[in-house]
Amino acid sequence: MTRWALLLAGFLLFTASSCDPDPVVVCPECPAGETDREITGPNISTPYVLEVPDYMPAPILNPDNPLTVEGIELGRRLFYDPILSVDSTISCASCHRQELAFTDGRALAVGVEGRMVNRSAMSLVNLAFNPNGFNWDGSAIQLWEQAIHPVENMLEMDESWDNVLRKLRRHPDYPQRFRAAFGVDRTSEITREMAAKAMAQFERTIISADSHYDRVVYQNTEFFTEEEQLGADSLFFVEDVPAGVLHPGCGHCHNQPSFGNNRFSNNGIEDVESLEDFPDLGLGGVTGSRFDNGKFRAPTLRNIAVTAPYMHDGRFATLEEVLDSYAAGGHGVENEDPNITGFPLSAREKTALLAFLRSLTDETLLTDERYANPFE
Ligand code: HEC
Ligand code: HEC
Repeated sequence: MTRWALLLAGFLLFTASSCDPDPVVVCPECPAGETDREITGPNISTPYVLEVPDYMPAPILNPDNPLTVEGIELGRRLFYDPILSVDSTISCASCHRQELAFTDGRALAVGVEGRMVNRSAMSLVNLAFNPNGFNWDGSAIQLWEQAIHPVENMLEMDESWDNVLRKLRRHPDYPQRFRAAFGVDRTSEITREMAAKAMAQFERTIISADSHYDRVVYQNTEFFTEEEQLGADSLFFVEDVPAGVLHPGCGHCHNQPSFGNNRFSNNGIEDVESLEDFPDLGLGGVTGSRFDNGKFRAPTLRNIAVTAPYMHDGRFATLEEVLDSYAAGGHGVENEDPNITGFPLSAREKTALLAFLRSLTDETLLTDERYANPFE
């Protein structure tokens, strides 16, 4: 009896849903219905020149995705809009918060329904200077391709792009913005690639270059404290040390002006027996080469004081713990970088290095209206 009732209910549900052209799309602003209509507003986009201080490298622009005022603004809206997630609860900005230099303050990122991601959210500053692939393992070559994945990732936003496009095409505001940014004539011409490219345009404009460090070293408007100076000259960027003297040498891999070389290395944090034992293969998972296992991208240290916890898996809660790890040296795994060697670090030196690291915080970035939530 019950089984028949269930089967019948199942059949009714099936026929009901197969007749319904309108799959469940959670989007308060998007009325059900037509996804193909004409868009009539202006289709003019305005080229945008990305201004970067002369002490920063030249930004890497994508000729297939030129920056426009309208594209950047569309991208900013998409970045802050939770309709990109399956239940309209999570936007890119949920995991990339401006006041935390676009990180989330968690060791591991948390997606829809509290699902735990296996990596720590990355800061999104100065992406325009990275030639070596995005994510901790460099798995995304183009910035716009990167933006496709969080939407589809089950642990992050768990939404299908088909649904996202349905929402965008029915939305009262977005179609006109897509027309202005990409010249589409009909809502059905809005594509995933356009949405991702708009987000990449916005992300490229997020430049961090106005920290205390920049004001001291490049703008000549402020001075280092004695502690910061010690941290910089004798610890972070050591030069001319006699052979055999051990030193932190952070600047080898986190070099100025971006404070990350964006190259992949094993910085010695993982205590494993062999190259096969890394819990997260990092670059090796992308290249398939065992010697790349356990290598991750050396990310920027700009704004590092506000982006705790640290490393690809958020294993260190504080910068003190990070310094203790580097001072202890690596674990002797075969592909550890030769620059990872233990070094003595007195209490005074530790305070100095921390003071130096804090000088990389860019308050201008953390509060810049251009990067803020447009819906607030
Ligand atoms: C659930 C949290 C979460 C959400 C939502 C999320 N991200 Fe991320 N983001 C992460 C994590 C974790 C990483 C590191 C991923 C990895 O290494 O595999 C990351 C990495 C990135 C990077 C790479 C940065 C770099 O320096 O390489 C970019 C760019 C980025 N996210 C943009 C976005 C955009 C755009 C969206 C929205 C479409 C988004 N993120 C949504 C957690 C999130
Ligand atoms: C051999 C190159 C190398 C050297 C030298 C090095 N680092 Fe790193 N650093 C890395 C890599 C690679 C990562 C990312 C590792 C990971 O996530 O597993 C990293 C990550 C970090 C992070 C975490 C970043 C984040 O966003 O979570 C901090 C902080 C850091 N390094 C500080 C330092 C300091 C301070 C020194 C000097 C004591 C130093 N590094 C020396 C390569 C290096």
